[in-house]
Amino acid sequence: MKAVAIFPATREVKLIDVPEPRITRPTDVRVRILEIGICGTDKELCQFKYGTPPAGADHLVIGHESLGEVVEIGAAVTRVAVGDLVVPMVRRPCEHADCVACSAGRQDFCYTNDYTERGIKERDGFMTEWVVDDERYMNVVPRALRDVGVLVEPLTIAEKALAQVRQIQQRLPWACPTTPGRRSDETDQCHRAVVLGAGPVGLLGAMALRADGFETFVYSRGGADSPRGQVVRAIGATFIEAETTTVAELPGRVGAIDVVYEATGASPFAFEVLAGLGTNGIFVFTGVPGRRGPVQVDTDLLMRNLVLQNQVVLGSVNASRADFEAAIRDLALFQERWPQALAALITGRFPIEAFAGQLLAQPADAIKNVFALS
Ligand code: BGC
Repeated sequence: MKAVAIFPATREVKLIDVPEPRITRPTDVRVRILEIGICGTDKELCQFKYGTPPAGADHLVIGHESLGEVVEIGAAVTRVAVGDLVVPMVRRPCEHADCVACSAGRQDFCYTNDYTERGIKERDGFMTEWVVDDERYMNVVPRALRDVGVLVEPLTIAEKALAQVRQIQQRLPWACPTTPGRRSDETDQCHRAVVLGAGPVGLLGAMALRADGFETFVYSRGGADSPRGQVVRAIGATFIEAETTTVAELPGRVGAIDVVYEATGASPFAFEVLAGLGTNGIFVFTGVPGRRGPVQVDTDLLMRNLVLQNQVVLGSVNASRADFEAAIRDLALFQERWPQALAALITGRFPIEAFAGQLLAQPADAIKNVFALS
């Protein structure tokens, strides 16, 4: 079967032929991959900034955002059935018995760093035709989400972040209703959010924040009338152009910022925005920046603000089963509320043979491009 793989030692990215995986354990599920999303991490993998092949292998099959269809199940499988649409999780637990996070099924909080990730770290990914994995990593997606199901995995980043924001905001009990899934459009004192960046992670994050009743601003380059700007408008959020509003002007334009959802990976810019976070605010980092060397930051200012304004800085990576389930529920909600904006996130479908143009170049106006296998 076809697979896109990186060869770090020789710095090559190739479409290769690999054996089809077979069911070997009673809890295995065999999945035919329908779509694979292309994200920034994949591009960094193809620049060899990131990524480790499985032990003993010279290559890593990439791809971690996917949608597939179950075609075969092992004898003991109960959670999925043949014909189900599924999105597999990315991270697999480490093997240390004393890692309480992995032992509890929360490998997204792994303590040892010995976790593996399909398509990223020591385990082949989903940019291929068939995948076999344990049923416990499969999440069933309703048929109605066939066209957008590939967005589940990138949405889990926002779901995990928002679950933590709700927990943290519970420290403000007076005016901060934190019921998960609160579907009100009302804004109140603790629900004003700024999303940094209008890529797929940023736009899906903005949708999740809007669905949770946040007054939401997306701060990005690219223009309020661009396709990204139109998505922002369609979901009832406000696009703020970085070309005409400086970071220092942001709080004046938005009001007190309760939550920043960072989705750019640009660290000097993010720390500039952190200086404008509001009282009792939460700053969520989701980007993984390249290491470009030190920059100057006004640490006295940041530390004073953090203490005197009860602020929280939170980094968040990967996602749990509950976050995948929340993403599937929210995707259905987005489809109901903003069908065109949601569909507009997927800007192109390509055969896997087009891997070079999609992975090694940056198609200028793309939001989320995907490989479609059927
Ligand atoms: C993936 C996560 C993964 C992270 C770090 C992201 O692109 O969505 O699942 O944990 O990269 O490798």
